[in-house]
Amino acid sequence: MPLTDHEYDFFISYSNADTDLVSSIVESLENDYKAKCWFQEKDSKAEFIDEIMSGIENSKVFILFISEHSANSYFVLNEINHATEWRCQNEDYKIIPIIIDKTKQDVADAAYKRVRFYLGRLNILNANTFDSIDSLILKIFEQAEIDLPDRSLHKSLYHSSESENARLCAQNEILRNFSSEFFTKYTTPDSYILDIGCASGENIILRLEGIAYTALLGLDIDEKQVECATNRFGDNKNTFLKCDVMSPELDDILEDYMERNDIIGFDVIHISAVLLHLDDPLDLLRRLRRYLKKTGVLFIQDEDDGANIVYPNSKFFNRAFEIWADSEESGDRFCGRKIPSYLSAAGYKYCNLAKCGVSNTALSKDQHSALWDIYFNYHLWLAVEENMFRNPNKTAKLLNDYIAEYDTYKKAYDNGEIFIQLGFMFFLARK
Ligand SMILES: C[S@@+](CC[C@H](N)C(=O)[O-])C[C@H]1O[C@@H](n2cnc3c(N)ncnc32)[C@H](O)[C@@H]1O
Repeated sequence: MPLTDHEYDFFISYSNADTDLVSSIVESLENDYKAKCWFQEKDSKAEFIDEIMSGIENSKVFILFISEHSANSYFVLNEINHATEWRCQNEDYKIIPIIIDKTKQDVADAAYKRVRFYLGRLNILNANTFDSIDSLILKIFEQAEIDLPDRSLHKSLYHSSESENARLCAQNEILRNFSSEFFTKYTTPDSYILDIGCASGENIILRLEGIAYTALLGLDIDEKQVECATNRFGDNKNTFLKCDVMSPELDDILEDYMERNDIIGFDVIHISAVLLHLDDPLDLLRRLRRYLKKTGVLFIQDEDDGANIVYPNSKFFNRAFEIWADSEESGDRFCGRKIPSYLSAAGYKYCNLAKCGVSNTALSKDQHSALWDIYFNYHLWLAVEENMFRNPNKTAKLLNDYIAEYDTYKKAYDNGEIFIQLGFMFFLARK
């Protein structure tokens, strides 16, 4: 997705002597951030001068990679000259100089005399002060005053890797342990179970593993997920259907299912990590009450950032929670505390917060690491497709600061020096 209606997002000015480093940054800009870069090996090709000028004029931002080589390349100096002139006529045009020499710290260095002549007054970044290409790129976006684009960064890498699958399994394990006693206690061999927002079925099937029940109906608005659930777990006993549970089709589907199975309601209704994503959770709970048997139990698992606890406390973890709170994808981060009021308003009885808080104590090594990844692995934010932050500029800065300290805190966590409790909540209620 191009960032602007310009032909290019970034014009890359550099010396061929620095190709390796610059290429790796450009590759990430293009592949991970979907930016369009004007980037060519061109120093010796004078015949491309018209193209170079047009590249500069058709880009939104001119990025200059400063090294001793580029500061003394006449092609680069000509590009800088053209970019600065272009900026005089176009006040939105941005120039971002970045020092990449490992041995030189700022533009005052004698080697950069010519560059300083043009750019001395601009804010100059030093690539050596960033601990990763990602954090440098986040800074470039911030300097360019461009909202971070489609955050598909690392999506393919992160989600397709074997370690990612292992991570998800470990996370599911942790959350299953959190509520398994209630599934064991309230599910009987005669039980009909309704799972609202079942996604790929993984969560509910794992929770029901080893437990006898008669039938499961899973509903989700996402057709692909329902297809996946059906392919993986669908059979005579387990049915997965596409349904927008906020629409009237919920009643049609449930009535039809109950009639076909000759039941008057469900023994267990399970809603995990769904209410926080809905505009009107109360409306759903009201409507579902009709379908819960008198003897049945409603299970709700949700989250509340107010119940997150970290020790030793630090700005680092607070930043993570702030970033989550700004992500539209992550729903109402304070939904947990509202659930008793919703349940009461919807007419349920005996509402009980049966469990609160999942901590990193007494976990296996894999689970310990997976618990961190539930909220604190920064790739999660970068990986969520079209993850719209409500305040992109502010959050990009938070993210930048977060990434800068990431390795230190991750190491301390891995060494067992940090206690974390995540605010998962598990409620039970009756009709
Ligand atoms: C965070 S996932 C939780 C999935 C699963 N329950 C779990 O705990 O792993 C939320 C799910 O709710 C589904 N969902 C959101 N709004 C919905 C709606 N209006 N009707 C049905 N499903 C919905 C989403 O498609 C998604 O699969």
